[in-house]
Amino acid sequence: MKKILINQMPNMIGEDVKLGAWIANKRSSGKIAFLQLRDGTGFVQGVVVKADVGEEIFQQAKSLTQESSVYVTGTVTADERNSFGCEIQVTSIELISEAVDFPITPKEHGTEFLMDNRHVWLRSRKQHAIMKIRNEIIRATYEFFNNEGFVKMDPPILTGSSPEGTSELFATKYFDEDAYLSQSGQLYMEAAAMAMGKVFSFGPTFRAEKSKTRRHLIEFWMIEPEMAFVEFDESLEVQENYVSYIVQAVLKNCKLELERLGRDVAKLENITAPFPRISYDDAIEFLHKQGFDDIQWGDDFGAPHETAIAEAYDKPVFITHYPIGIKPFYMQPHPERDDVVLCADLIAPEGYGEIIGGSERIYDYELMKQRIKEHNLDEEAYKWYLDLSKYGAVPHSGFGLGLERTVAWISGSEHVRESIPFPRLLNRLYP
Ligand code: 4AD
Ligand code: MG
Repeated sequence: MKKILINQMPNMIGEDVKLGAWIANKRSSGKIAFLQLRDGTGFVQGVVVKADVGEEIFQQAKSLTQESSVYVTGTVTADERNSFGCEIQVTSIELISEAVDFPITPKEHGTEFLMDNRHVWLRSRKQHAIMKIRNEIIRATYEFFNNEGFVKMDPPILTGSSPEGTSELFATKYFDEDAYLSQSGQLYMEAAAMAMGKVFSFGPTFRAEKSKTRRHLIEFWMIEPEMAFVEFDESLEVQENYVSYIVQAVLKNCKLELERLGRDVAKLENITAPFPRISYDDAIEFLHKQGFDDIQWGDDFGAPHETAIAEAYDKPVFITHYPIGIKPFYMQPHPERDDVVLCADLIAPEGYGEIIGGSERIYDYELMKQRIKEHNLDEEAYKWYLDLSKYGAVPHSGFGLGLERTVAWISGSEHVRESIPFPRLLNRLYP
């Protein structure tokens, strides 16, 4: 008999099929048993009718424990109540492996317990839906940047430099040298852009941040495009087009998952370019009017500030032109002001916080050298980077989108820890 996957079933109504699956859940009466089957591609109901299969198979079905693995054969039938529009009328069951005392039961569990069991918690419906959305965002990211003519270039993970400041580095030994796990591939991507024009990277980045918030991971994945001959405003257009593209891709290709998560899709349907822009100056003024007297010009925004600003809009909002003192060394100064730089953070709606940080980059050799000095960075380690502003320097811009915060926002999950398969958090390296 033909072995199929659950997500192929809607096209196989009336056919006899075989399915490899796990028992996600089960309920039964004296005459009928309902098996909630899952195989990774989806969830479907298996119906076991005692009068049809006989006493032995019926008892076998009733005795199946949660997360036992089985081969099931049966006939695919239409059923409007199932999200796939079908179910399977079971004719026989072959037990592959019995699961005993699976820890994640349908009842409520505490966060720490779930996190300790992350390796099996991933099997639950909600986590499955979030991972499918993560996968769709990754797929759409490659599609978008390939369509736009970007070349994927992979920066190193083991590095000798630190683009985002030196306080949050994971240091390690590189034989006799000191090395750091990459905080951002940006500087390497700038070199790549000078070779290939428009490039993007997609890889893990590491921050030894002692932050315990719903937005911070120690290890997270970042998409970092970098574009030669692209100036500040043009980069914002790429960002809003990219973010709109991934949101629309999820809406189109993850309908079942969004429904399973109870996500308010009307809020996502609205996410189309262009996005609003507000300057840092105006954002500070706005916050003061809102009664935030804990923030002064020159301070960085905290989560409550970002949320207050985001709530004024129904799309992601760019906060532009931050003070030079709170941003990294490489950002291009404003042409008419020496106190702000050509940068923008993109703040997601609904309190999900900053999802993109980006800027135009300095390309004047002397200025770059001076900024490296001002930031007390080791000039020797940045010699190669300085070469970029020495040999045919051009205006260029780039940005970094944090994958997990974006997944959390689009899927509507409370905390970034659920938007990566195995989160690395402060005090959590297990499993
Ligand atoms: O704003 P960040 O620090 O910018 C950079 O690293 C730039 N070098 C990127 C570039 O221009 N190529 O980080 C970019 C994004 C943030 O907006 C956020 O979405 C995410 O990375 N991010 C984190 N996500 C989860 N946990 C953390 N600890 C994060 N830190 C940053
Ligand atoms: Mg940032």
